[in-house]
Amino acid sequence: MHSPQQLLQLFEEYRSKHSFHYSPEELYEPIRYILDLGGKRMRPLLVLMGCDLFSGTMEDALPAAYAMELFHNFTLVHDDIMDNASLRRNKPTVHEKFGIPRAILSGDVMILYVYKFLQQLEPEKFHKVITLFNSSAIRVCEGQQYDWNFQNAREVSVKDYLKMIEFKTAALLSCSLEVGAIIADADEVDAHHLFEFGRNIGICFQLLDDLLDAFGEQGKFGKKIGGDVAQNKKTYLHIKALELAGGEDKEKLIFYSLNNVPSEEKVKHILEIYRKLGVEKIVRDEALKFHSKALDNLKHIKAGEQRKQVLHDFAEALFKRQM
Ligand code: IPE
Ligand code: IPE
Ligand code: MG
Ligand code: MG
Ligand code: MG
Repeated sequence: MHSPQQLLQLFEEYRSKHSFHYSPEELYEPIRYILDLGGKRMRPLLVLMGCDLFSGTMEDALPAAYAMELFHNFTLVHDDIMDNASLRRNKPTVHEKFGIPRAILSGDVMILYVYKFLQQLEPEKFHKVITLFNSSAIRVCEGQQYDWNFQNAREVSVKDYLKMIEFKTAALLSCSLEVGAIIADADEVDAHHLFEFGRNIGICFQLLDDLLDAFGEQGKFGKKIGGDVAQNKKTYLHIKALELAGGEDKEKLIFYSLNNVPSEEKVKHILEIYRKLGVEKIVRDEALKFHSKALDNLKHIKAGEQRKQVLHDFAEALFKRQM
């Protein structure tokens, strides 16, 4: 059994041996840049923890762990173009630093390397993993499109919002865990419970991401505070504020979330309304529901209690996230 610290170390060792020092430099430099900026490495950690939960071999899981982190970083590079974001992991975003054309192409090639790393699995596992990964990656793109569409929507229901974040964010977390379980030859019922655990922590994670985007500490969070408001994102905060607001506040929420007015003014006004209406607590309560569901999923998995504790602790840490 491995601690998360040991798993992260294994992952970073593997990564340093596969660090994209290829030509042309213009294609690979942005990949090294975004990967070297770090991040929490949640997806590779989840692959390795999913594998370790069922006593699988870490050497078998490392290429797949790297593949999931590559796919994640590809989504970030393209997401930052879509979201017009200037800051990621406390540094300029890839398109800010290298320009949009290089950001697009480096992102594209990262996906192809995902397949290259997955190909290292033995044929039977490769087939299972690729099937799961492809449907999850398609979900992520569908979620990203819903997120984009909602920017121009006057109102979005909680149901549609939850579906959107399940697709754009939770899909890759649940996929990562199940990939680990597949590599460890876990039985299908256990792998499914683990997938559900990932789905619920993923939804919890994105709810808190929305919250931190409005009320987090920029230095810790690493992204520009107010980015979602500036981009007219229909976050859980926005949806609940709209439900609670009356009169002038409601008009402001609708007006600002549909119009391209200067973003500083918009952010200031909207965050004030969120504060006044106390949406922070509402988001936390909603996140807690998914956190509790995830812990329940964990109970159904047939694995040693000590091994399960690692995932339990992960879910706890995620619920307390500030970055
Ligand atoms: C950012 O993911 C994108 C979302 C799904 C909110 P992370 O918060 O896991 O990003 P890094 O990898 O730690 O930077
Ligand atoms: C991004 O959601 C999800 C994916 C990258 C697929 P966000 O747009 O909220 O992520 P951040 O806040 O930019 O990291
Ligand atoms: Mg986005
Ligand atoms: Mg974004
Ligand atoms: Mg966000």
